[in-house]
Amino acid sequence: MLYKTRTELRQSIIILIVAFFFVTLIFLNYAYFSTRAYIYEQSIRNQFSLPPGKFLWNFPPSNYSYCNFNYGLPAKINYTRNNLKYPPQEGENSSYRVLYNAVETYLDDNVPNVTYVTHVTVDFLLFIPEIARYWDGPISIAAFVPARDAQIFIQKITKLCFCLPQMSRVSIHLVFPVNHEPLFEEASNSSSIFNNCNIKNVFVDRLNRIENRLFYPINVGRNAAREAASTYYVMVTDIELIPSKHLAMKFMQFVKGFRNNETPFVFVVPIFEINNGYKVPQNKEQLQQSVKEGVAVYFHRYVCPHCQKFPGIDVWLDTPNSDSIRPFLTVKREYPFHRWEPIFIGTKQDPVYDEALSWEGLQDKMTQMLQMCLLNYNFVILDGAFLVHWPGIKKKGQRVTEAWRTSFIKNNSKEYNHITEQLSRVYDSNKNKKCKLQ
Ligand SMILES: *[C@@H]1O[C@H](CO)[C@@H](O)[C@H](O)[C@H]1NC(C)=O
Ligand SMILES: *[C@@H]1O[C@H](CO)[C@@H](O)[C@H](O)[C@H]1NC(C)=O
Ligand SMILES: *[C@@H]1O[C@H](CO)[C@@H](O)[C@H](O)[C@H]1NC(C)=O
Ligand SMILES: *[C@@H]1O[C@H](CO)[C@@H](O)[C@H](O)[C@H]1NC(C)=O
Ligand SMILES: *[C@@H]1O[C@H](CO)[C@@H](O)[C@H](O)[C@H]1NC(C)=O
Ligand SMILES: *[C@@H]1O[C@H](CO)[C@@H](O)[C@H](O)[C@H]1NC(C)=O
Repeated sequence: MLYKTRTELRQSIIILIVAFFFVTLIFLNYAYFSTRAYIYEQSIRNQFSLPPGKFLWNFPPSNYSYCNFNYGLPAKINYTRNNLKYPPQEGENSSYRVLYNAVETYLDDNVPNVTYVTHVTVDFLLFIPEIARYWDGPISIAAFVPARDAQIFIQKITKLCFCLPQMSRVSIHLVFPVNHEPLFEEASNSSSIFNNCNIKNVFVDRLNRIENRLFYPINVGRNAAREAASTYYVMVTDIELIPSKHLAMKFMQFVKGFRNNETPFVFVVPIFEINNGYKVPQNKEQLQQSVKEGVAVYFHRYVCPHCQKFPGIDVWLDTPNSDSIRPFLTVKREYPFHRWEPIFIGTKQDPVYDEALSWEGLQDKMTQMLQMCLLNYNFVILDGAFLVHWPGIKKKGQRVTEAWRTSFIKNNSKEYNHITEQLSRVYDSNKNKKCKLQ
C-alpha cells in the first residue's frame, strides 16, 4: 500500500490538484500573452512595409496638376538674376543661392497655421508624398538641386503633382551652389497626362551632386525653407520623420490656450524610431504598445544615446494616452542635457542654423541649440504629439565605417569652435557653464 492513511492520500490529491491548477494557469497565461503578441504582430506587421512613395502606385492619376508652379516650370526653368536670393544667414557672402517658391502652395482657410519645414536631396524625394499625407498643415521644402539635378527633380515632382491632392499644401524652394545653377537640357512635356502613379526613386550615382562631390549644405536648406514658410509657427525637421495624426491641427488648438510668462519658449516634439516592416504609430497608444513590444525606441537610441533622450522620457511613456496635445514638462537645455538636439515647433524668430556646417560633418544643429541655451529658452515638451523616424532603427556600425566623413567632421568642429568663441564673448560666463560652451 503506497498511502498509509486516507489523510495522506487526500493531502496528495489536494497537492496534485493545486499543482495542476497552477500549471494550467501558467499555461493559459503563456498562451494568452503569446496569442496576443501574435495578433498584435500580425496587425501591425507589413501594413507599412512599403518603401517611401510606394503607396501611390495604386492611385489613379488625375488629369490636372495639384501644384502651383512658377518660373516657367515644369516645362523649362526661366528666371532672372533678381529672382535668385541669398541664403538667410550668410547673405551675400554665401556661395549658394535660393529660388524661392518654384512650387507655391494653394491653401484654404481650414489648413492649420503651422508649417512642416524641411530640406531634401533628390534621392530622398519619395519622402515628400509621405509627409504630404501625414502632415495636415502647410509643408515648406528646400531641395538641393545643383545643375541638371534640378530637371530630374522637377520631372518627378510633376508626376507627384498629378497623383496626390495633398501636394497643393507643398511649397518647394531650389537651393544650389552659385557655380551649379539649375540646368534644363530640353523642355519637358508639361501638358503630358500620366497614365499611372508609379514613381521610382532616382538612381543616386547619376546625380550631379554625387558626380561633383558637392557636400550637402543642410542648414542653408533649413534656413531657406523656414524663411519661406507663410505661417507664424514652424517645425524645422528632417523629412524621414513622420508626424503623429493631426499634429498640426491639435497643436493649433493647444497653443491657442497656452499661457507662459517665461519667454522665450519653443515646443518640443519627442522623436522615436520603429523597426523595419512595422506600421508607424499614429497615436500615443500605438506608440506605447510598440515600445512595450520592443519594436520602437527613442530616436538614435543606438547611435547617439544622449542626442534624443529627452528629460522625463520614462514618465512620458507611462503617461496614459491623451487625445489632445498638452504640455508635459518645461526644461532648459543645460547640463546634463547639453547634447540634446530636439525637434521643436517654434517661430522664424528663433536662432538660425549655422550655414557653414555640412550634413556630412554631423552635429549640424549644435550651434543653434547652444545659442538657445545661452538665450535661456524654455523647452516645453509636448504630450500627445510625436515624430517617428522611418523606415528602420539606426544601429551602430553604420557610422563607424564612414571614414569618408572624417574631413567633414574636422571642418564642422573647426566651425563649431569658432562659433563657441564668438558666443562666449557675447554671453555672460555664468550661464556658459551650464550650457557647456567648452
Ligand atoms: C478633367 O476631367 C474632368 C472630368 O473627367 C473634366 O471635367 C475636366 O475638364 C478635365 N480637366 C482637364 C484639365 O482636362
Ligand atoms: C521667361 O520669362 C520672361 C519674364 O517672365 C518672359 O518674358 C519670357 O518670355 C520667358 N521666356 C521663355 C522662353 O519662356
Ligand atoms: C560678409 O562678410 C563681410 C566681411 O567679412 C562682413 O563684414 C559682412 O557682415 C558679411 N555679411 C553677412 C550678411 O554676413
Ligand atoms: C491661417 O491663417 C490665414 C491667414 O492669416 C487665415 O486666413 C486662416 O483662416 C488661418 N487658418 C486657420 C485654420 O485658422
Ligand atoms: C506631350 O504629351 C501629350 C500627351 O501625352 C502628347 O499628345 C504630345 O504629343 C506631347 N508633345 C510633345 C512635344 O512631346
Ligand atoms: C573645409 O573648410 C575649408 C576652409 O573653409 C574648405 O576650403 C574645404 O573645402 C572644406 N572641406 C570640406 C570637406 O568641407
